[in-house]
Formats: sequence, structure tokens, C-alpha cells
Amino acid sequence: MVRIAPSILAADVALIEQAVEQAAAAGADLIHVDIMDGHFVPNLSLGPELVAAVRKRTALPLDVHLMVRKPSLFIPLFSEAGADWISIHLEASSHLHRDISLIKGFGKKAGLVLNPATPLAGMEDILPELDYVLLMSVNPGFGGQSFIPATHDRIRRLKEWIRSLKLDVLVEVDGGVNLDNAAALAKDGVDILVAGCSIFGTPDPVATIKRMREAANP
Ligand code: DX5
Ligand code: ZN
Repeated sequence: MVRIAPSILAADVALIEQAVEQAAAAGADLIHVDIMDGHFVPNLSLGPELVAAVRKRTALPLDVHLMVRKPSLFIPLFSEAGADWISIHLEASSHLHRDISLIKGFGKKAGLVLNPATPLAGMEDILPELDYVLLMSVNPGFGGQSFIPATHDRIRRLKEWIRSLKLDVLVEVDGGVNLDNAAALAKDGVDILVAGCSIFGTPDPVATIKRMREAANP
């Protein structure tokens, strides 16, 4: 079953509560929350207060994607704010094993994120420690960008690699995911689809989430 993780970055920031309710009403599996520090990516987004506020309003797991230069500073803050899943960028962490262990030490699911041009091979020695890998299908920092087609092949190669090692690591994809590519991504073997603008930019986000789930789970 492919899971759907609506990205609330794409919702009107004054209406985030509504976006969370829509995600829950549509049967979303996770709420994806994008954290940007203005250094690792050229944009600022939400902070731990927002995550804590969302935490109070939903029982859905919060999937916090840290686009920050110093993940070790932020893992404790977002853990305490109520994140359930926390992912950090391979390109940002200089002590990957320590940072992944830190996330797990808080009892959270630990994910590693790779930008579109970062070779999969770079995670060879950390892969068995991970709960999930998030493959970026756009260059991170902004919602509403176009899906990079080479991601299809990256998903297939990563899934094959995980299978060959008999690991239990999920694969998530983020950026430019929509109703047109959801079925193909499911065929590639992806486990979790993150989608922002293609959900919250439509007049009926609840219906869109349901359609995306159907497209990904024929
Ligand atoms: C991009 C973020 C994404 C973003 C996805 O840097 O990591 O999660 O919200 O937005 P869409 O689906 O609009 O590309
Ligand atoms: Zn994201």
C-alpha cells in the first residue's frame, strides 16, 4: 500500500489547521512538514512551535523533513515538538551516524534525504540503520517545482538495492508529485508519496488526496 503524505508547506499558512483537517478527512497516512533554515536551502519556513501546534490538532504521524545545515541542533527541538518521523539531508550532516542515532534515541523514525544529484552509493554504510530514505525529486527549498524524471530510475535502483540486502527501509519521494505521475511512481516501487501544491493548490484537497491514493494503489 503506497502511503500519501500531504505537505502542509503548500497550504495557506493562516489555514494550516484546515489543511491538517483535510488531510485527516481524506485518510492521509502522514503529514509532511518542511523545515528550512535559510542556509541549507535559500528559504525559511516553519519552526518547532508550528509543529507543536499541529501535534495538538492531529493524531496522524508528523513527518518532519529538516532542510537545515546543522541537523544536530534541530533534531532535539523537533523531537520535543512532537515529530514522529525525522529526516536529515546527507549533504548537510557531517556526522551522519551520530545524527541518525540521535533521532532514534528520541524514539523517532529516522530518515535520510538525498538531493537529486547526490549518488545513492553515498549512503552505503548507513542504509541498514535507516527507517526510510527520502529521495528529492526537485532541488529542495520551494514547493511547486517540476518533477525531475531521472528520479524514477533512482527509486528503482534504490528499491532493488534494499531488496537485495533484505532490509526493511521505506522509500519516500518528495517534489513535483501529482496525479499524473503517482501511478508511475507506485510502479517504480515507492512507499510514500509527498505532495504539496498538487493537493493544496486544488479546489478540493480532500478529493485530490483520495484520487492520489487510488492512482497509487490500483
Ligand atoms: C521542497 C519540499 C517539499 C515541497 C513539495 O523543498 O521538501 O516537501 O513541499 O511541494 P510540491 O509537492 O509542491 O513540489
Ligand atoms: Zn519535503
